[in-house]
Amino acid sequence: MTANTERAALRSQRLNQVTHAPHAELDALVKSHAPFETRENFARFVVAQYLFQNELKALYTDPKLIAIFPDLAERCRADAARLDLADLDTAVPADFPGELQNPSLGAALAWLFVSEGSKLGAAFLIKRAAALELSDSFGARHLGEPAGGRAEGWKSFTRTLDSLELSPEEETAAEQGAVAAFERFTQLLKHAYATAPKAELA
Ligand code: HEM
Repeated sequence: MTANTERAALRSQRLNQVTHAPHAELDALVKSHAPFETRENFARFVVAQYLFQNELKALYTDPKLIAIFPDLAERCRADAARLDLADLDTAVPADFPGELQNPSLGAALAWLFVSEGSKLGAAFLIKRAAALELSDSFGARHLGEPAGGRAEGWKSFTRTLDSLELSPEEETAAEQGAVAAFERFTQLLKHAYATAPKAELA
């Protein structure tokens, strides 16, 4: 990610810039919970991923957004995260208040940008999940390589994102939305670890 302070030419690069600090903070927060130390720790991370993906299902299945990104519905990882929860013997969590409501187009695009971007970091995370004997077919499905490849999936998403005409208002909504998406994931992550079941007494 670039921390360049000059305003980038491409929308995807601008969204990258405005989320640089939130991404670094979230990365540190994820790591502070040692998600790869035990399956229990990892399962809380999956709870956050599931809640985030499940909230975004409304966007991934929105016909107006599918008209822009034809493969959008296949990109959704809510079902994969739900299967991971089952693999990890973890209950599907109840919705957490404060989910995104009726976003403008700019905001919707930005939330999708954050969700799709998180598949890049997932390449690193799934390698570490292997130490817990988890993989794209058990427990860490939602971190798996998308059909067609991670790099190509990201390139085709940003190519379309960068080609759209947006009003200055929508552009601002996009930049705010990208930061808001990181804030939401952060909130869900904190919630997920705060609601970890107590370890059973031996
Ligand atoms: C909910 C959103 C996100 C979460 C939870 C997340 C989480 C993470 C974590 C934990 C890492 C560190 C992996 C490691 O070092 O083992 C990482 C790395 C990475 N993430 Fe994200 N990420 C998110 C969104 C994004 C977005 C929007 C982008 C791109 C636009 C992105 C691009 C990357 C890249 C390229 C890496 C690799 C190393 C680096 O450059 O920092 N991520 N992510």
